Amino acid sequence: MKKARLAVFASGSGSNYQAIVEACIDGRIDADVVLLVCDKPGAKVLERAEKFGTKSFAFNPKDYESREAYETMLATMLDDHKVDYICLAGYMRIVGKVLLSRFEQRIINIHPSLLPSFKGAHAIQDAMEFGVKVFGVTTHFVDETLDGGRIIDQGAVAYEGNDIEELTTMIHNIEHKLYVKTINKLINKRF
Ligand code: GRF
Repeated sequence: MKKARLAVFASGSGSNYQAIVEACIDGRIDADVVLLVCDKPGAKVLERAEKFGTKSFAFNPKDYESREAYETMLATMLDDHKVDYICLAGYMRIVGKVLLSRFEQRIINIHPSLLPSFKGAHAIQDAMEFGVKVFGVTTHFVDETLDGGRIIDQGAVAYEGNDIEELTTMIHNIEHKLYVKTINKLINKRF
């Protein structure tokens, strides 16, 4: 059977991108990351992509008239690379109709909270400020809502300290394992 072809969309540091690529390289995921898409030229994830030899494409959404315009451009690129699945890993944008209709049930995201609690860009900080004692990570299908879509997997960790960096590291460690598990489910269609 042919290997699944993944595109990772990321805008930040790219630790999840790296975890996915490493899992593909050492056979924990039977797929190849064939494209990294980044909407923040200069982001650290682009350096990681270069190191791992993943083809990358960085663009600035402001250079396009609309979400539809840049997603149409991205759709062509994804077709050119024969991408089967899109894994969002810190891509800080809502995905619109153009990509959602072409990749129905084939776009997933990872979010650093136990959804549906604490959606948005500051989930870890928001949860800590709320006094949460059990934190976590969620992987889910992507729809047109912020951090919405059906949940696939979750992982949790108890934490009662107040060191956000320590907690963020704990959460990232869970993310890197959970995303591998979820991608395996996705490519093997096991839900
Ligand atoms: C992760 O916490 C992920 O859950 C969220 O964005 C962050 C990306 O981190 N969606 P990294 O760039 O993969 O290190």
